[in-house]
Amino acid sequence: MSKELTQITNKFEGEKETQRQLLYIEKAKEYVIGLQKELGHKPTCCVTTFGCQMNARDSEKLAGILELAGYELVEEEDADFVIYNTCTVRDNANQRVYGRLGHLNSLKKKNPHKKIALCGCMMQEPSVIEKIKKSYRFVDLIFGTHNIYKFAELLVAMFEADGMVIDIWEGTDQIVEDLPVERKYPFKSGINIMFGCNNFCSYCIVPYVRGRERSRSPKDIIREIEALVADGVVEIMLLGQNVNSYGKNLEEPMTFAELLMEIEKIEGLERIRFMTSHPKDLSDELILVMKNSKKICRHLHLPLQSGSTRILKEMNRRYTKEQYLALAEKIRREIPDIAITTDIIVGFPGETPEDVDETIDVINKVKYDNAFTFIYSKRTGTPAAAMENQVPEEVVKEGFDRVLKVVQETARERVSLMEGMTLDALVEELNEQDPTLVTARLSNNTIVHFKGDASLIGKIVPVYLKECHGFYYLGEMLTEG
Ligand code: 5AD
Ligand code: SF4
Repeated sequence: MSKELTQITNKFEGEKETQRQLLYIEKAKEYVIGLQKELGHKPTCCVTTFGCQMNARDSEKLAGILELAGYELVEEEDADFVIYNTCTVRDNANQRVYGRLGHLNSLKKKNPHKKIALCGCMMQEPSVIEKIKKSYRFVDLIFGTHNIYKFAELLVAMFEADGMVIDIWEGTDQIVEDLPVERKYPFKSGINIMFGCNNFCSYCIVPYVRGRERSRSPKDIIREIEALVADGVVEIMLLGQNVNSYGKNLEEPMTFAELLMEIEKIEGLERIRFMTSHPKDLSDELILVMKNSKKICRHLHLPLQSGSTRILKEMNRRYTKEQYLALAEKIRREIPDIAITTDIIVGFPGETPEDVDETIDVINKVKYDNAFTFIYSKRTGTPAAAMENQVPEEVVKEGFDRVLKVVQETARERVSLMEGMTLDALVEELNEQDPTLVTARLSNNTIVHFKGDASLIGKIVPVYLKECHGFYYLGEMLTEG
């Protein structure tokens, strides 16, 4: 079939699938009503998210379906239905899931109607499914990343089954639009613009559990954002594992920068964020579009992973230390007020203290506004897991501490540069520790707390940045007049 015909067929199939799932939601509703009669109260459900922004967005989709099916969403895991949306990017995420499952089992013993479901990246690993089948028999439903749009259908299957329902797919080219979503924040939202990843960095499990790269059509993306804006959203975060390669495989190819220009035109939308950028694909066109934009936030997350060209090659990152530095310099030159943040891995196989020195050199030169530093985690099935020269734990720890120290020092230095400025901030919530304060986010992603009340939530207001406290500010809102 031609590419064009495949895409038309997929779209048609996608629309049919949406209708099917809406019917399953109706069917699930009947089961939930039945359950309500038995329980004597509206059944409750809890969606727990592990991992990245993509998973957070998927969880909003799960919550949307559960709510429409008649569940009441709660935060506590003693709910009548609990679903864990899992992550497997590093092994500690897996271990946390296993640890918490034991607790869920004890809650289930007290509530025989309780159902437990697991989904997300970790479920795409065959060894995980084997372990759950063997040691966690009390789980009722398991599915993966490719069939999440079938959640309503799977819920019905769970209600009708005697034992554990398992449905894991190896991949899909299906993108199903227009299913219900329950947003965590009324004023901001994530939007998937693409799924999967084709980069195969040698340490990373994502391409295996999220499948090949697929871009949504710009029309569908714009339509979704317009609907969100009509519903009160002022800030959006465009989500993809590698947004810079957006649109390459579309029927009418389009660059990420072109997509941004279209999104910029949406009236009522105030802020545009995106995540994540791969340095190898970041174009001059994108830098120019960001520079000229009134809406694209002054923040770029640009994962470095390592500052050593030798290790970068082993990681299959496809850029050198010098290329990365030149790119960061160009971005800072063109957009001086931009914040650059990054991800760093310490302890990749074969990494020496000299390689760590190279990473530290890049940190000192770029001066990140924030950096997430991770200890390398061996993921079965990735090329790096089979590499021989795994680094001993004590050596990794020593390198990790050195990197962290420099990251903290340089980030403090960068963030403190804004002291005394007045900048716009989007108020997100009441401060957790002190409810006389609100917590807001600057365009460059820095957090600022200041006196205010709940009526400000969702508004963009000018804030005087009075005191820098490491990674955040205490400020004062400027009022007119
Ligand atoms: N070990 C440690 N960190 C990893 N990441 C991805 N895979 C691994 C791994 N096996 C980190 C990368 C990536 C971030 C999302 O997670 O830094 O950018
Ligand atoms: Fe993993 Fe690399 Fe893809 Fe990011 S770009 S998801 S690190 S394979």
